[in-house]
Amino acid sequence: MRVVAVTGGGQGIGRAIALHFARAGYAVSVADSDATAGREVLAMLRATKIPVLFVQADVAREREVKSWLARTRRALGPVDVLVNNAGISRKAPLLELTPRDFDRVIATNLRGTLLCAQAAARQMVAARIQGAIINIASTRAFMSEPGTEAYSASKGGIIALTHALAISLGPYRIRVNSISPGWIETRDWKKKAKAAVPKHSRRDRLQHPVGRVGRPEDIAAACMFLAESAGFMTGQNVTIDGGMTVKMIYEE
Ligand SMILES: NC(=O)c1ccc[n+]([C@@H]2O[C@H](COP(=O)([O-])OP(=O)(O)OC[C@H]3O[C@@H](n4cnc5c(N)ncnc54)[C@H](O)[C@@H]3O)[C@@H](O)[C@H]2O)c1
Repeated sequence: MRVVAVTGGGQGIGRAIALHFARAGYAVSVADSDATAGREVLAMLRATKIPVLFVQADVAREREVKSWLARTRRALGPVDVLVNNAGISRKAPLLELTPRDFDRVIATNLRGTLLCAQAAARQMVAARIQGAIINIASTRAFMSEPGTEAYSASKGGIIALTHALAISLGPYRIRVNSISPGWIETRDWKKKAKAAVPKHSRRDRLQHPVGRVGRPEDIAAACMFLAESAGFMTGQNVTIDGGMTVKMIYEE
């Protein structure tokens, strides 16, 4: 049985990725800093009858990352697929952004991605697994609203880290790609205490050439494609945004 490790898999897009891989027959290991979200996804995963593990961990901390992936190997086997999905944003006007907030976003989104990729790659190399690493970036790596310096920088870093990792891990036949989601509606994928029924205006929908806002399932399906069907792809970024970032907007 193949093993997938998903960071930030407790809720939102990560929860959809964890469930999608479980339904495809993968053993699933989730790390999330939110224990409540983790317990909820564990119960959902158990219903699929596949072997599962949840570990509360902060991806920015090397010790916690190493411990999560070591426990994953002991419980489920070495990792075949890693999805670096955990991410945070601290929207703040540029002139008020603190170095501390900037560092926290970079530590979670960028250092966390590196730490998990390193630890998972060590397992893949040791077990001679020709694995796949998928990093969740964002369309905000390429375009911005005001006050998103930390988040945009972290996501731009993930795109660059992805091609660097792809080159370093190429000799081991480990492929590394990123996905840049656009606007993905996650309110109905949040933990119970925060979940809500999504509502979108006509304008929201029409910003997207495909005529709707994105869903976590759209990203989960792309992760599966990169893991299973993209043997000739590495170091690449795939934008999944319903066409939003290729649409010109002229407002009168
Ligand atoms: N939702 C969107 O529109 C969108 C768009 C582009 C990119 N993304 C990216 O997709 C990923 C998932 O986003 P989401 O909208 O599902 O977010 P979310 O907040 O719903 O879920 C993120 C999960 O990551 C966990 N997490 C946060 N910091 C962590 C840490 N240090 N260690 C371990 N777990 C941690 C949270 O507890 C949470 O369960 C993020 O990387 C985000 O930047 C989301």
